[in-house]
Amino acid sequence: MKIILYEHNDDAAPWLQDLSRALPEADVRVWEPGDTAPADYAVVWRAPRELFANRPDLKAVFNLGAGVDAILDIERKEPGTLPPNALLVRLEDSGMSQQMVEYAVYTVLRYLRRMDEYDALQREHRWEKLEPHARSTFTVGVLGMGVLGARVAQSLTTLGVPVRGFSRTKREIEGVQTFAGAGQFDAFLDGAKMLINLLPHTPDTEGILNARAFERLAPGAYLVNLARGPHVVDNDLLQAMKSGQIAAAALDVFHQEPLPDNHPFWTTPRIEITPHVAAITLREESIEQIALKIRALTRGEPISGIVDAKRGY
Ligand code: NAP
Ligand code: GLV
Repeated sequence: MKIILYEHNDDAAPWLQDLSRALPEADVRVWEPGDTAPADYAVVWRAPRELFANRPDLKAVFNLGAGVDAILDIERKEPGTLPPNALLVRLEDSGMSQQMVEYAVYTVLRYLRRMDEYDALQREHRWEKLEPHARSTFTVGVLGMGVLGARVAQSLTTLGVPVRGFSRTKREIEGVQTFAGAGQFDAFLDGAKMLINLLPHTPDTEGILNARAFERLAPGAYLVNLARGPHVVDNDLLQAMKSGQIAAAALDVFHQEPLPDNHPFWTTPRIEITPHVAAITLREESIEQIALKIRALTRGEPISGIVDAKRGY
């Protein structure tokens, strides 16, 4: 069995070592431009188009992340680039949901308790008590009820805030008021005090966090984007923050990454930035999951986590 590996961040060596250890029967190599030698499986993060092109032999492509937007974007731009019979498999949790829960719980508590405002007051040496937000009306809407969003929504119910969830198809999660499909999007948004985005980036979800959506939220709402930059219309967010409709935003992902030095988000008061680290891919957990799936495929058994390319996630 031959496996090619590509890790965009240029640190493929530890992945090569650990994947080879997990699958000693496999011949694993790091893919380099020009490598067209046969391969049964590809394990990739943000691989270039060339890796996928003219590889009818590939049985499956394993994405080293939950979001497969970068791979599907290659196919959208140049249909027929991805091997037609290869399965596209995303990471399922593999330690990410716990990290997302931590980020989400932290931001909900930070904004609920107005800690970001106390940080600013401290910088000005101001001893000032702020009116607390009412927990009962601090409604948090989680966009995306998949592997990550469902776990986040569930964990937020323990904080005593009302929690809503939005997905394409109807989900039932105890303690969460769920909404499904574009027809229920407005009802999901209406009066929410905080949005946490965990949608996949697809043609349907691009730009979903825009002026129209922000207007439906409670005045002085909070936005937390943990999914992908293109979900947000940046200028609409800046305008909504200027008007006070959005009070503050915690952003982990951006249209362009790294966020360009001259982007206004860097200097907009009450925008907090993290460099796409809300839930990082954990090597040990991810390799264990991928190795189990490769072994299942070689035995002819079904696996979970297969992406529906038409749906886009
Ligand atoms: P997932 O399991 O595929 O779940 C996606 C959820 O979004 C599902 O509930 C799905 O609805 C819903 N959805 C998709 N299209 C929709 C639409 N048009 N309208 C309404 N709901 C829609 O994905 P996941 O594993 O939870 O990951 C979510 C995203 O998080 C990834 O795609 C990735 O972009 C991002 N992410 C970011 C980081 C980071 O560090 N910042 C780390 C990991 C992942 P159904 O339930 O009806 O299918
Ligand atoms: C990270 O952004 C992922 O999609 O796993």
